[in-house]
Amino acid sequence: MTRGFYVTTPIYYINGNPHIGHAYTTIVADVLARTARTRGDAFFLTGTDEHGQKVADAAKAAGLDPQTWCDRLVPKWKQLFASFHVEYDDFIRTTEPRHERLVQRVFERLRENGDVYRGVYEGWYCSNDETFWLESKLIEGRCPNPECRREVEWLSEESWFFRLSKYNQPLLEHFRTHPNWVRPRSAYNEMMSMLEEGLEDFSISRAAFDWGIPIPGGGGVIYVWFDALLNYITALGWSEDDARFRRYWPATVQLIGKEIARFHTIIWPAILWSLGEKAPDLVFAHGWITLDGQKIGKSLGNAVDPETLVQRFGADAIRYFLLREGHFGSDFSYSEAKIAQRYNDELGNDLGNLVRRTLTMLARYRNGLVPQPGETRFGERFTELPKRVEEAIFNLQFRDALEEIWELVSALNREIDERKPWVLAKAGDEAALDALLYDLCEGIRWLAVMLAPFMPQKAGEIWEQLGLRTGLHGSWEQTLVWGGLGAQTQTAPSETPLFPRLEIAVA
Ligand code: MSP
Repeated sequence: MTRGFYVTTPIYYINGNPHIGHAYTTIVADVLARTARTRGDAFFLTGTDEHGQKVADAAKAAGLDPQTWCDRLVPKWKQLFASFHVEYDDFIRTTEPRHERLVQRVFERLRENGDVYRGVYEGWYCSNDETFWLESKLIEGRCPNPECRREVEWLSEESWFFRLSKYNQPLLEHFRTHPNWVRPRSAYNEMMSMLEEGLEDFSISRAAFDWGIPIPGGGGVIYVWFDALLNYITALGWSEDDARFRRYWPATVQLIGKEIARFHTIIWPAILWSLGEKAPDLVFAHGWITLDGQKIGKSLGNAVDPETLVQRFGADAIRYFLLREGHFGSDFSYSEAKIAQRYNDELGNDLGNLVRRTLTMLARYRNGLVPQPGETRFGERFTELPKRVEEAIFNLQFRDALEEIWELVSALNREIDERKPWVLAKAGDEAALDALLYDLCEGIRWLAVMLAPFMPQKAGEIWEQLGLRTGLHGSWEQTLVWGGLGAQTQTAPSETPLFPRLEIAVA
């Protein structure tokens, strides 16, 4: 059976409203899934992480029981993803019965095989990070996570443990034999040194509070991370729908923020191996969007409201910015001035004007009808471009992919500036004018196809303006053959520019 492409995002804690950082990972997954769908079968999962103390505390502060709180928050998250044109295949909530049932089954399975055992846990716990810390790691008695630094509490309770230490050697082995399974390199190296330091078993049950999945047979609830990680296989129907599970597992790529790499590249594969399943093909730990050098996040109170950004710049422009601004894997800083600049220069001037100028000339010289192709100056030169763009996308180098696409944008603009269609028209060189106008329209058609995963709505508008109806999301190999645009196609230029200029006061 051929395997489908499976991409996941972390599931988001819903202890408050979503911010731009949450939109980021989900948009990246959407770009991957949309590109993968042009080649065949793809499945894209996102969702919400609803158990644990953090969510329980937020509910309490709002005077609600946790389930009611979660039910109220989830629509906001779904709305956010819809505003950004995200098309996931499944949205999982960890409070759903399908998930609770699976987590309990896994717990029982691991208890039977001895990887989950009973012991006493004593240690320092940070409820904000939902993490236990060794005393030696604390900084002045506080949580060592630089973004947190909250007080930790001493917990002492009977507990169920997961035998992580048993997987120390297999993990080291896996990291050595699969040097690219965790990317970027910085994350790989960091995880490798944790493995070399040695792993300890850790507690996976909580008796102190009850907002979680009950441990089968009693004794508290299951640790939120153990519960949450399993979402990735719940959605595929692990142990219930084997054909579906085998079709997508191991995941092609699991996207995460770098702060949760340890959970996804050490604990997660160990749990999977304990179940007899494989580790994902790739875990990619991306960087943070920062504001004044600090990670944007709820805890710091510097969160940026994504809906406001959508209203201001449009969803596709934000999608473009997020993928174009930083190298995927590195931090990058956010500012509205930077978004506005890319919007006006790259989207408005380069792309938007190219489409407007071309279709205006076509209307003037050819009544808006695509002419017969002539001798092309582009076909051969750009034959390899779609392949390069696709490769960059599947290699998660989104910035490079967009830069490659912009090569074509610039080449087409240069062609207009240098060959001056108005001069050809005046000179009555009809054949040269036909050939040039055809190349420009065909180039724009190529741009729409390659930009569709990044800016689905704008690509759709370009497609319509070209007078095309279907085929925008088809296989690149078949669609992107130079000359594919039919002569005599009636174009339909729009009055409104694709990216109306923003007047910005930049501080
Ligand atoms: N619930 C856990 C994940 C469980 S996955 C089995 C969690 N949730 S979270 O809501 O705190 O963060 C989830 C993800 O949001 C991060 O891993 C990251 O992908 C994204 N981001 C949150 N803030 C971000 C930035 N400022 N910048 C980039 N991404 C950010 O951790």
